[in-house]
Amino acid sequence: MPVFSAYAPGKIILFGEHAVVYGRPAVAVPVQQVQARAVVEPDLRAPSGQVRLQANAINLNQTLAELPPGQPLAAAVHAVLAALAIGKPPACTIRVTSTIPVAAGLGSGAAVTVAVMRAFSAFLGRPLTDEQVCALAFEIEKLYHGTPSGIDNTVITYAQPVYFIQGQPIKTLRVVEGFSMVIGDSGVKSPTAVSVGDVRRAWQAQHDWFEALFSRIGELAQEACHLLEHGPSRPLGALMDENHALLQEIGVSSPELDKLVQAARQAGAWGAKLSGGGRGGNMIALADAETAGQVVQALQAAGAVRTLVTEVK
Ligand code: PMV
Repeated sequence: MPVFSAYAPGKIILFGEHAVVYGRPAVAVPVQQVQARAVVEPDLRAPSGQVRLQANAINLNQTLAELPPGQPLAAAVHAVLAALAIGKPPACTIRVTSTIPVAAGLGSGAAVTVAVMRAFSAFLGRPLTDEQVCALAFEIEKLYHGTPSGIDNTVITYAQPVYFIQGQPIKTLRVVEGFSMVIGDSGVKSPTAVSVGDVRRAWQAQHDWFEALFSRIGELAQEACHLLEHGPSRPLGALMDENHALLQEIGVSSPELDKLVQAARQAGAWGAKLSGGGRGGNMIALADAETAGQVVQALQAAGAVRTLVTEVK
């Protein structure tokens, strides 16, 4: 049996994080510079049915039977077997590697899941469709995040810019006027489930106020979708600035993120905002190709522990 491998990109949310959990639209794009990879190899010496999972980055080297079913990688394998109604797969080893930073809002969990599902189902001779992968990966996302909106598994499965509303058909976007996006990592690790939980409590306490904030964020995502599809791109910057201010009001920014956002704007970015769950993790800034280098330098000087530049097109 041959070896099967699959990749999945990282992702970043351009507009609409948190509000998307409450039914508002959001926009996300894939980040191809970072990727998760899964390789499945037959294991001729192992007993039939044995699936070994190896992920050196998290010191994992165990068989499926040894792992708790809720372990996210094991859950991804179980989900594929259940979807394909396969009880005893040919013995194999699944190796997982990733260059996507963990707990930084770049979708590492969803990307690993998608790569494993694609490679393992191909190994079994019955590759899952994008639709199936997306739906199954959403179930696994719940293990990582509690109550995810589904935006991560969607943008990562389709590997294209998406306009996403929970429960609605997926809309991929064709960006007419490409631009550079600089991603700056604050270096502060911040689990998404915590900020999502805090926002939920604040929403319960101040329902109408938070609903109004979410609605305005949804409008920004809608305006951004129009600009992405019809141009021009530059006014996206002002929408980002407003989205960041709304995220500050919601309580998910942090002094480190605010400092990076400010530094990017001063260096000539069109606009900047935090991206993802917030409190830590990443911020993003839009710029033209010439200014992106200056923005990178400014972010590094302001304390970013890692920067990435990606072209959105
Ligand atoms: O932290 P990230 O990039 O995985 O994004 C979380 C986005 C939220 O809207 C806060 C939660 C969600 O599930 O959509």
